[in-house]
Amino acid sequence: MYLSPFKLERYFAKYEFSARYLLCSSDCESLSVGDLLALESGADEALQRHWLGYTESSGAPSLRKEITRIYDSITPEQVLVHSGAQEAILLFMQAALQPGDHVVVHWPCYQSLFEVAKGIGCEVSFWEGRVENDWALDLDELRRILRPATRLLVINTPHNPTGALMPRPDFLALNALCQELGILLFCDEVYRELEYDPASRLPSACDVNPLAVSLGVTSKTYGLAGLRIGWIATRNVDIYNRMATLKDYTTICNSAPSEFLAELALRHRAALAARNLQIIQCNLALLDDFFARRADRFAWVRPKAGPIAFPCLLKGDVESFCDELVHESGVLLLPGSMYDHPGNHFRVGFARQNMPSALTQLEQFLDQNTTVVVQNK
Ligand SMILES: Cc1ncc(COP(=O)(O)O)c(C=O)c1O
Repeated sequence: MYLSPFKLERYFAKYEFSARYLLCSSDCESLSVGDLLALESGADEALQRHWLGYTESSGAPSLRKEITRIYDSITPEQVLVHSGAQEAILLFMQAALQPGDHVVVHWPCYQSLFEVAKGIGCEVSFWEGRVENDWALDLDELRRILRPATRLLVINTPHNPTGALMPRPDFLALNALCQELGILLFCDEVYRELEYDPASRLPSACDVNPLAVSLGVTSKTYGLAGLRIGWIATRNVDIYNRMATLKDYTTICNSAPSEFLAELALRHRAALAARNLQIIQCNLALLDDFFARRADRFAWVRPKAGPIAFPCLLKGDVESFCDELVHESGVLLLPGSMYDHPGNHFRVGFARQNMPSALTQLEQFLDQNTTVVVQNK
């Protein structure tokens, strides 16, 4: 299987640990091991005693049990734990797809959601969220894209990079359509529980559709990317078994300390999500104000969920803008070209505590570079 370089990850590899201000991160503010252990008395001692042998390949039973609380209909045997969401995407595609299969993917998107299917030799069609529709997807357009041989539909809601959230009637209609046509649905739900309006939270795909596979992770909503614990939840026994068999060739099992810490974190997931949502809401108010004052330079579509959005730079080329910004001010934004998006958009991330300082740096950069950017127009 040939996989093209992961543009976004290569961009981050260049700047993530050298740029002073990360203003495009998709994960929420993290915690230290000490912060996490302080959530429960006795957790510190329990970690000291935690055994460092191999763990169960599907994930520790107690961790899988904790993960089932996120869902309505899922049992521990229907949860398969991985090293991050990324491993789960790779194994899911390999388990589900054959060369020549037709796959429809919600786009723009996190690259692996279509790249792995392409690498396997599938025909990939994009189902595009468009800025003129506030990044919403159109079900009629999907019906036109689907073919009799479509094997898989991949969606991501809440969405990276736009912060779009599918309306509930569309989500239910989409699940019904997939069931009616026998199309497998893979729903990347790594930003779930970060809806700004709790009433807009969607059910998990695995709860409403017996063939669907839901993807979750500790990295985003709970801010614990360094644990590298992700999972799939599904009632689809065939896909589950195939993924479990493939995992024997990748990580075999997960890191024992990470499983311990992930389980502890998930016991407190409501508190972790609420803390991160509060950071997001405060920072989002600053961004609303910033984009209102800078409407001559940027177009802002307010996201509906999650820690990221995809505004448009109205003057100048977005790659050069991001490049100048990071080199002159140490502020990292992610140009939309890393998603191969042809618009002049960039990803902004606002779930970090130092986001107000990053925004101040961006403002200063804009004030100092007004003429440069206009000249580049
Ligand atoms: C939509 C989406 N899916 C999956 C992933 C991969 O998550 P992880 O890095 O925790 O494996 C990301 C990471 O940015 C993402 O944004």
